[in-house]
Amino acid sequence: MPIISIPALGLRLSADADENLLKVLRRHRVPIAWSCKRGECGTCKCLVERGEVALSGYQPQALPASQREQGLVLACSSRVVGDVQLRLVDSDDFIEHPRRQLRCRVLELCELAPEVFSLRLGILDTGADAAPFMFSAGQYAHLKARKADGLWVGRDFSMAGTPVRAEYDGELEFHIRRTPDGAFSGLLGRGIVPGTELQLEGPMGTAHFRPRHEGPLYAVAAGTGLGPMLSLVETALDNGKTDVVALYAGFRDVAEVYGVERLAQLARRHANFQFHVVVEFDAGSGMRAGRVGDALFADAHDFASGKFYLAGSPAMVDAVGRQLLERGVAPGDVHADSFRAPAVQRLAGN
Ligand SMILES: Cc1cc2nc3c(=O)[nH]c(=O)nc-3n(C[C@H](O)[C@H](O)[C@H](O)COP(=O)(O)OP(=O)(O)OC[C@H]3O[C@@H](n4cnc5c(N)ncnc54)[C@H](O)[C@@H]3O)c2cc1C
Ligand code: FES
Repeated sequence: MPIISIPALGLRLSADADENLLKVLRRHRVPIAWSCKRGECGTCKCLVERGEVALSGYQPQALPASQREQGLVLACSSRVVGDVQLRLVDSDDFIEHPRRQLRCRVLELCELAPEVFSLRLGILDTGADAAPFMFSAGQYAHLKARKADGLWVGRDFSMAGTPVRAEYDGELEFHIRRTPDGAFSGLLGRGIVPGTELQLEGPMGTAHFRPRHEGPLYAVAAGTGLGPMLSLVETALDNGKTDVVALYAGFRDVAEVYGVERLAQLARRHANFQFHVVVEFDAGSGMRAGRVGDALFADAHDFASGKFYLAGSPAMVDAVGRQLLERGVAPGDVHADSFRAPAVQRLAGN
């Protein structure tokens, strides 16, 4: 009689030979989600850590080949053929937007705060047959611009607009801090102006919105980390999330603060949304003083059932991520993108 072990739940279950895997799991009341039971929706994904199952009769979009290679299977489409060790997974963690290379044109460049720009792009490859650009809120793309010497320079930037905007209107937005000697950002307003053509490769990144999660959502941003966090909370609220959605936007000083009107509008539309503008030095009225992580931890929160999304400077992301884990938040509930500069060797060649 084959044995199915699930170490994370301390379970060893007996199955009949050739029995449907989802049936065994349901028979033993294992907390696995399912929906279509026909290999079409991908809800019943689980990871085979040891052994094998016989998988057949499913739709490729429910389990793309790349996920199959990682050991994921669909329980509803698997037969038990021997002892097997499983791990239940959150199917939200496995998204599959094809990575694309696209041409874009700068529609608008506007200064949100001194040296912080909103870069709005229109996707050019949008003929009748062209598939829309799809990403999950919180992801990033690699943007490339042509310098005056004709060479291309590229850096990673997180989408600040919503996926819906990209998919239906072919429009993308990024929030970018300009450093005068920055190989890419230094071109903003100089080589990168309305009408300039840029190249984009993406989407990339795993710190994206998990729509199936039930419980409070906390988004913590430092500086232009506000871009992807805005995209993420807007998407969550537009998706009808009714749990608390809280955004903590951290800035070094009051001159850096931006995005407050967009946040206030969201708060007016959604009673479950709250935001905190946290300024380290000389906070103005309506702002909180101190570090953004300290503000998060000062508020009484239901850390046990929350999900946390972090974006911005590596110092903030590392510190807040570490403190969350120290407070018992599971690693699978902390999703972070730190805006690390590229390695020095890449910088040299740009
Ligand atoms: C996943 C991800 C998402 C990101 N999202 C965003 C975002 O949404 N918004 C955003 O503003 N940023 C984001 N970043 C950061 C962004 O990719 C760039 O690293 C950042 O904008 C710096 O690029 P730059 O062109 O300004 O400067 P760079 O030319 O890359 O230089 C960075 C700094 O290093 C210095 N420097 C230049 N050359 C060298 C060298 N040879 N050796 C040592 N130091 C050097 C420069 O003075 C400059 O201050 C993200 C990064 C990652 C990894
Ligand atoms: S329940 Fe839909 S794929 Fe298994």
